[in-house]
Amino acid sequence: MRSENKYNALITGVGMYVPEKILDNKYFEALIDTNDEWILSRTGIKERRLLENGATSDLAANAILDLLKSKNMSAEEIDVIIVATVTPDMFFPATACLVQNKIGAINAWGFDLSAACSGFLFAFQTGASLVESGMYKKVVVVGADKMSSIVDYTDRNTCILFGDGASAVLIEPSEDKSVGLQDFILRVDGSGKDSLHMLAGGSLNPANHETVDKKQHFIYQDGKAVFKVAVKGMADVSYELIQRNNLTGDDIDWLVPHQANLRIIDATAERVGMNKDKVMLNIAKYGNTTAATIPLCLTEYYRDGKLKKGDKVVMAAFGAGFTWGASLIVWGID
Ligand code: COA
Repeated sequence: MRSENKYNALITGVGMYVPEKILDNKYFEALIDTNDEWILSRTGIKERRLLENGATSDLAANAILDLLKSKNMSAEEIDVIIVATVTPDMFFPATACLVQNKIGAINAWGFDLSAACSGFLFAFQTGASLVESGMYKKVVVVGADKMSSIVDYTDRNTCILFGDGASAVLIEPSEDKSVGLQDFILRVDGSGKDSLHMLAGGSLNPANHETVDKKQHFIYQDGKAVFKVAVKGMADVSYELIQRNNLTGDDIDWLVPHQANLRIIDATAERVGMNKDKVMLNIAKYGNTTAATIPLCLTEYYRDGKLKKGDKVVMAAFGAGFTWGASLIVWGID
């Protein structure tokens, strides 16, 4: 449970960027043995975005610039930039440094955080802690992934699932404790490493001809195995979080699940007792954008006027590691 802080961490701004190029399901029919009906019925995905030129830092920088524009704020005001990603531009320097330079955040420090599809939740919690401690006043957390850079477009099990995108939130301190971050549960279990990973390129299997020939620089996923644990993981922590705050599914205005598969989302919503019309979705448009799915939902639903001040929101994610978790926030901006 949470300790008492003077401040609550409050999301006070949002921003997003998705590349223009759209890959619809038909595109994959020419590439691999699949069809629109299979993809839509098994995953809920209709299309996803592709970044043709540039890297994850470009996605992240554009999302933050969109946030700054909407807040009429200068990059110089940012204290910290946390980039959640599994597709950094390179091992080092950190993508956060490249983003800092691209947007001109000359007073910020920052770092990357790797928690795959739970990346945004983990980074949000980290950023929130920096704010709640009273040490920093303006922390930007951006979930950004150029998944197309690690997808094998000949593997029908994975290539249809992922898309490129980024989305950012600004976290500031709030003395009003009725809004902002209320509670969270985060978990990791490294025994899940064999079901979902990118095997080569790190210190265990440095890049060489053999790792390239064996396609070990691409995502590998045992979809069935991950499916089962993802539903249980997301549902269990969401349920526990709701219960220990003396709430029920009826009290929650929005469930914001990581967007990996519509069937996982539906099963999670059912297990926590939430009506489907209170579940944020963007999987049909963007597929699985890894660290970007949750903030992209928040940004679009807020800008569409559906996410309102005072709304109780549960964000839930599951990803490689395994990593998973849930956060309870009360939306605090008009
Ligand atoms: N088009 C057509 N058929 C496909 C296909 C595609 N794109 N991809 C897989 N198939 C086939 C499989 O080869 C298999 O055929 P087989 O029975 O002849 O071997 C069949 O469809 C069923 O495969 P299966 O893996 O059981 O499908 P599924 O219903 O589990 O759906 C996923 C596959 C990947 C969509 C699903 O397992 C999933 O979403 N998993 C979890 C993803 C996730 O949450 N990741 C975590 C965070 S990233």
